[in-house]
Amino acid sequence: MAILVTGGAGYIGSHTVVELQNADYDVVVLDNLSNSSEKSLKRVERITGKPVPFYRADILDKAALDRVFEKENITAVIHFAGLKAVQESVRKPWEYYNNNITGTLTLIQSMREHGVKNIIFSSSATVYGTPAQVPVTEETPKGACTNPYGWTKSMLEQILQDIQYADREWNVILLRYFNPIGAHKSGLIGEDPSGIPNNLMPYITQVAVGKREELGVFGDDYPTPDGTCIRDYVHVMDLAAGHVKALKKIEENAGLCIYNLGTGKGSSVLEVIHSFEEATGIRIPYSVKPRREGDVPENYANVEKAYRELGWKAQCPGLKEMCADSWRWQSQNPNGYGE
Ligand code: NAD
Ligand code: WQD
Repeated sequence: MAILVTGGAGYIGSHTVVELQNADYDVVVLDNLSNSSEKSLKRVERITGKPVPFYRADILDKAALDRVFEKENITAVIHFAGLKAVQESVRKPWEYYNNNITGTLTLIQSMREHGVKNIIFSSSATVYGTPAQVPVTEETPKGACTNPYGWTKSMLEQILQDIQYADREWNVILLRYFNPIGAHKSGLIGEDPSGIPNNLMPYITQVAVGKREELGVFGDDYPTPDGTCIRDYVHVMDLAAGHVKALKKIEENAGLCIYNLGTGKGSSVLEVIHSFEEATGIRIPYSVKPRREGDVPENYANVEKAYRELGWKAQCPGLKEMCADSWRWQSQNPNGYGE
């Protein structure tokens, strides 16, 4: 009996594989390495002391998926595989809809042909669009997304819900991640974006390590206390632990469940910069730039449902510790998994 982790070589996937193996689950990883390196899995093996069976394959490749389900005794799928760069998705909508939506439909087809009807899906806070009120609960209406990437998450949530409605043998858990940052304490695995980072934390760590000159802060005239946008930054190891809890929920035949995974606390861009500086003693030069198109002023989670139903709560004490962990990874691996 094993858990198939699609996209398991990526940032959140690799950390989740650690937590799964630590919880004594057998894990099989499938990834096409389009945005990751197999080295992450070698590092996971160093951390857990267990082998990570790996298939280099694409979720669009039905025959390859079928081979995995035929060979391995898969009971549930944790589905991370997908493209996730917001700006790129605006330029390449077809590629995003095809990879994320056709890929997931192909995965589901292979799953049901092999009698596997348990899935945990990586959704995102982006499905709330611009929330009318914060913190958002799972009952907060989904909103209009501002980019094709966000729509793939929103549409895939709907597709998975409809599949579960039509066939109640399915257990579908939609996890809406807020803003994952941090890295495993060992500094062996972490976030390794290709090209210029889109997200705040990897940009900050690349400035700190000397790969970028300064950080651009996208807007300081938002209706927030310091004028910069507010997000819910959550430690990636906490997210990983959330997947283990979600698997337990699936084992109870939970049907359809939706959970926010965040800390419940919002932090501004300037607060993140200052926490990083305090945690590391490194000054982050920055200048204020125009607002980034599509940014929402404020989004953070109400996390009571995940606590009530999964017994999950973010354990990391705060931003400073998350920053220290992001920095340990970046400073030990200035070029990520590259040479
Ligand atoms: P990541 O890019 O590090 O991991 C995704 C992995 O999927 C990569 O290893 C990539 O090679 C693989 N992949 C992509 N397309 C594939 C395909 N067609 N076949 C097989 N493998 C494929 O990203 P991440 O940050 O670890 O995100 C994991 C999931 O969580 C994604 O679905 C992402 O959309 C979602 N998510 C991420 C965030 C975030 O801020 N990082 C927030 C919310 C949701
Ligand atoms: C956080 C804050 C930026 C970079 C994105 C996706 C979302 C989800 C998480 C997957 C914002 C500011 C950033 C920089 C900056 N991903 N910023 N300078 O925007 O909450 O969400 O990642 O699902 O779908 O949209 O996260 O890390 O990009 O930005 O000032 O160089 O940092 O404006 O306020 P975001 P982020």
